[in-house]
Amino acid sequence: MIISVFNQKGGVAKSTTVTSLAATLTKFGKKVLVVDMDPQANSTLGLGVDDESLEEDSTIYRLLKEQRLHKNLVEGIIMETQYDNLHLIPSDIFLSDAEIVLANAMNRERLLAKVLKFVQDDYDYILIDCPPSLGLLSLNALVASDKLIVPLTPGFFSSKAIKHLLTTVNRVQDNLNSELGIMGILVTKYDARKKDLNAGLPSKILDYKIFDTIIRIDSQVEYAQENMMPVPFYNEKSKASEDYMNLAKEVLADGEK
Ligand SMILES: Nc1ncnc2c1ncn2[C@@H]1O[C@H](COP(=O)(O)OP(=O)(O)OP(=O)(O)O)[C@@H](O)[C@H]1O
Ligand SMILES: [Mg+2]
Repeated sequence: MIISVFNQKGGVAKSTTVTSLAATLTKFGKKVLVVDMDPQANSTLGLGVDDESLEEDSTIYRLLKEQRLHKNLVEGIIMETQYDNLHLIPSDIFLSDAEIVLANAMNRERLLAKVLKFVQDDYDYILIDCPPSLGLLSLNALVASDKLIVPLTPGFFSSKAIKHLLTTVNRVQDNLNSELGIMGILVTKYDARKKDLNAGLPSKILDYKIFDTIIRIDSQVEYAQENMMPVPFYNEKSKASEDYMNLAKEVLADGEK
């Protein structure tokens, strides 16, 4: 199953969710590929890979640009991480050129989908980290995905931005990927002390499910990030790790439906 973690708003824990969920799914015996579609390379770094030290043309950008793709080429870009069953297609800052360079490419929205076709059967889950924008990179992620997880921080629920996000998803469903579904909306960085923000938490947004699991705010996430590790490997007993464990159970249950 290919899942994009998507929200055009910045800082809502997309990258944290990608690396933490990926880490947790491997603890359930799943084989996972993380695809970093964000030039900020936060999920690349979060899995212990220094984007500054990557060689030229060794990122997802190489594959998006390639007109004659084949499986060996895709496998050549996939990196092992220091964690079992957790692989990565990294990104670096040069991926930001893609928005312009690939703007006129043939089938420019389907470039990532074509890349992943070669390897999707090799993994139980492919998790895509999206940039905080609605450009070509995010569009490619949405077209390549079966499902979306939409992280949201409390206080963001009634905003125009969420309506805009859902309109975008609907447009992709109508025109580019009719199979795309929203697995759920995920409340992140939840702070029980901020009662005023939490009061606005609905149980559904339009018709979309909100995961039962709420990811609590936890300083261990930042310590993990400083150590370039997913929090479930950095501190298994932390609140955030416990929450991502519960999220993984919901994600696994969704796959069995
Ligand atoms: N549960 C949490 N508790 C505390 N801090 C968190 C938690 N989740 C994420 N953060 C912090 O919030 C910041 C933003 O998280 P993250 O980078 O995952 O968001 P993002 O949506 O990927 O951001 P961007 O839109 O820039 O890609 C980071 O500094 C991260 O450490
Ligand atoms: Mg991010």
